[in-house]
Amino acid sequence: MRLETVEPVRLADYRPSDYAIDTVDLAVAFHEAETTVTATLALRRRDGTPPGAALLLDGDDITLGSVAIDGKVLPPETYTAAPEGLILQSPPADPFRLTLVTVLDPAANTKLMGLYRSNGVWCTQCEADGFRRITYFLDRPDVLSVYTLRMEADRAAAPVLLGNGNRVEAGDLPDGRHFAVWHDPWPKPAYLFALVAGDLAAKRDTFVTASGRTVELGIYVEHGNEGRIDYAMDALKRSMRWDEEAYGREYDLDVFNIVAVSDFNMGAMENKGLNIFNDKYVLADPDVATDSDYAGIEGVIAHEYFHNWTGNRITCRDWFQLCLKEGLTVFRDQEFTSDMRSRPVKRIADVRTLRSHQFPEDGGPLAHPVRPDAYKEINNFYTATVYEKGAEIVRMLKTLIGDDAFRRGMDLYFDRHDGDAATVEDFVACFAEASARPLDDFMLWYRQAGTPVVEIAETYDADARTYRLAFRQTVPPTPGQPRKAPMVIPVRFGLVGSNGADMTYQAAEGAEVRDDVIVLTEARHEVVFHGVAERPVPSLFRGFSAPVKPQLQSAPSDLTFLMRHDSDSFNRWQAASSLAMTMLVAGAEAVRGGATPRIDPGFLDALDETVANPSLDPAFRALMLAVPGENDIAREIGENVDPDAIATAHRTLRAAIGARMETTLAHVVSDASAAGDGPFRPDAAGAGRRALVNAALDLLSATGRIEVLEAVERRFDSATNMTDRVAALSILVHRHAPGAAAALDRFHARYGHVPLVVDKWLAVQATAPDTGTLDRVKALTTHPSFSFRNPNRTRALVGSFANLNPTQFARPDGAGFGFVADTVILLDEKNPQVAARIVTSFRSWRSYEPRRRALAEAALHRIAAKPGLSRDVGDIVERTLA
Ligand code: TRP
Ligand code: ZN
Repeated sequence: MRLETVEPVRLADYRPSDYAIDTVDLAVAFHEAETTVTATLALRRRDGTPPGAALLLDGDDITLGSVAIDGKVLPPETYTAAPEGLILQSPPADPFRLTLVTVLDPAANTKLMGLYRSNGVWCTQCEADGFRRITYFLDRPDVLSVYTLRMEADRAAAPVLLGNGNRVEAGDLPDGRHFAVWHDPWPKPAYLFALVAGDLAAKRDTFVTASGRTVELGIYVEHGNEGRIDYAMDALKRSMRWDEEAYGREYDLDVFNIVAVSDFNMGAMENKGLNIFNDKYVLADPDVATDSDYAGIEGVIAHEYFHNWTGNRITCRDWFQLCLKEGLTVFRDQEFTSDMRSRPVKRIADVRTLRSHQFPEDGGPLAHPVRPDAYKEINNFYTATVYEKGAEIVRMLKTLIGDDAFRRGMDLYFDRHDGDAATVEDFVACFAEASARPLDDFMLWYRQAGTPVVEIAETYDADARTYRLAFRQTVPPTPGQPRKAPMVIPVRFGLVGSNGADMTYQAAEGAEVRDDVIVLTEARHEVVFHGVAERPVPSLFRGFSAPVKPQLQSAPSDLTFLMRHDSDSFNRWQAASSLAMTMLVAGAEAVRGGATPRIDPGFLDALDETVANPSLDPAFRALMLAVPGENDIAREIGENVDPDAIATAHRTLRAAIGARMETTLAHVVSDASAAGDGPFRPDAAGAGRRALVNAALDLLSATGRIEVLEAVERRFDSATNMTDRVAALSILVHRHAPGAAAALDRFHARYGHVPLVVDKWLAVQATAPDTGTLDRVKALTTHPSFSFRNPNRTRALVGSFANLNPTQFARPDGAGFGFVADTVILLDEKNPQVAARIVTSFRSWRSYEPRRRALAEAALHRIAAKPGLSRDVGDIVERTLA
């Protein structure tokens, strides 16, 4: 395959650039047909660079107008210019100003990297290496410059002109044109550069910082969406306050703007003072946004804002250090949400995401360390491993050294590295220093890929009153890492006594045991607790204290005991989840052997008791009802997977829950309707109540009773918010209710003009678990509401089908794989980044049973064989097949 020839970039090869760029002056002139960019870079040799050393600037698809040094246009023989780079063979020895004129066609930029047009709005996306699509540059995160940007455009076409930093000048020009000049005093790498020019509506507000400075806030959206900004603005102000209170971090400019655009490759981008967002993470009102949309907005607004310190003020030395900003910022946004909402509920949600996204990555051909040591295409490393496992590492660090030392370490990091392009080593050193605990062994979490397995065995000696826990950890081999060393694993724990309370013990030996944390550092530990009055039920990895797979052969009665009594909410949920998983795995096995899955009545009793308990948070009860999904079961089975058998086992368990818990679930529904809706509030309490009712209806409908489906259809029509409406629609469609098709039509008639709601309509259809789904999905690709040019539409239809419809993606005739492969091949021409994401849905292809495995492999080979395949897709396919 062609890609074998692309040489990887290696961490070991890092060296600083020969030249520094102290200032960047950009003049951007927007016209309908083309945009010209005049960039003036103040270049200077770094210490140690010999005079006259060649200057190599990065480029990508650049059309060059002219090159000048200190105002004099260069004759063509003094430089080499190509779309992918510019070389000056012998630049001046003294600091000089290089002026580059480039000509861009933003409307033709379908990759959505660099400068592009989204629904008529000019905007940019420069991370990771998009700035080189605007002008030639030292496009690497360790080159920090002070930027000044002058934009000019037709006033009617683009009344709004936004850049990084503060606006220092603006005014009219002849011919209906106008201009604005933005200056950002904070030196930054090019990936944080941004501009926006267009006709947008805005909502403005102010924020007074802890030290009393007033910051002007603005959120810009396409016209027609001005009524959907309030929640994002509120989330922004709460984020700003939280970072002051939790970390002592204040905002550092006079202006903070957010722009929502409809065509965007990922969630959002933290450009200095000018965050640009996928509009999905800004726009909300109760009629169009679900509770999970609101939660997503709150989390992403916070995430991007928090980057101002963790990412912008302290940036990354190179892209191998990506987790330095992403893992840490995810950790920070998770903590923010925990403080805003419910901590246990947030933790359970995050662990579910980690297991559903990161575990399969870590256990498959795309596994890589949180800090990779080589890459062919950096855009393929914005992964669940870097983000979510990266956040887990920060969380473990906090567990290991304690809250106070952790905060001191963060303070030290902000203090010592402000203005730096830093490394993971720099970061971890701050915590070692603050805690006086050497963390060299802990660094393995950044270098070693794969999810550790921790096997646990327990014994109680009643005569000696000792309780032993034997731990054995193994880290599976991953690509390029056949052998692994033991990791530092913090195990938060409790020994639960028969009265349900945590027991005390006199002493512990065999490992470092501090308060309620055991620290494993070796492959094996035997921890002995002395003075233990009775045989405890162990509650291990409370709060999911490490991203590992614990294996303890617990008696089902221990797990139902923990479901009822554990003081740690996470482990109450985990106990239910583990019990359900055991049944589901055995159930899938039974189905394949032609038998019926067996359901443990003790589990159903404990679940019923929990869900009926009015003193528990409704959101928590809703999570208890969410048994492991089909993809989770497949991952647990690991090999020779038959998605149809899994689906049957899954359906059987859910129907059994629906039948056994009918009284409780019906009460949940009727209590809620008796209490009435009240005014809609998108807060955690309201969202939790809605989640519980919708989970109850979903399980009741799993029994297939027609009265339930009729009630759901009435609920669909009378819903006063999108959460309830789309939950009802999904039940109707997925359970083949008689009214399903008509409900889909009514939904489209009402919301067809709201693209973000069209996404829900597409996703509900793409995830229907029946054999007609593939044809429907294919038909939808030509529906007027659909477009492959828009990443959100593409992900809603094709991404949902490939990732959330396991039986239809992996149809035994291979047609599901074939369709996704065709889509990837088509999409690769337009938007390789989005295409590459979709290919990752093949990552677990080796765990299918032989027939499906062969079909998936053939689909992958077909993608690989496409002439001119992008580096993005090529890299994923190559690693997936390796
Ligand atoms: N840095 C962004 C974040 O995590 C994400 C990001 C990286 C991104 N590359 C991108 C967004 C490309 C859009 C397009 O907050
Ligand atoms: Zn981020």
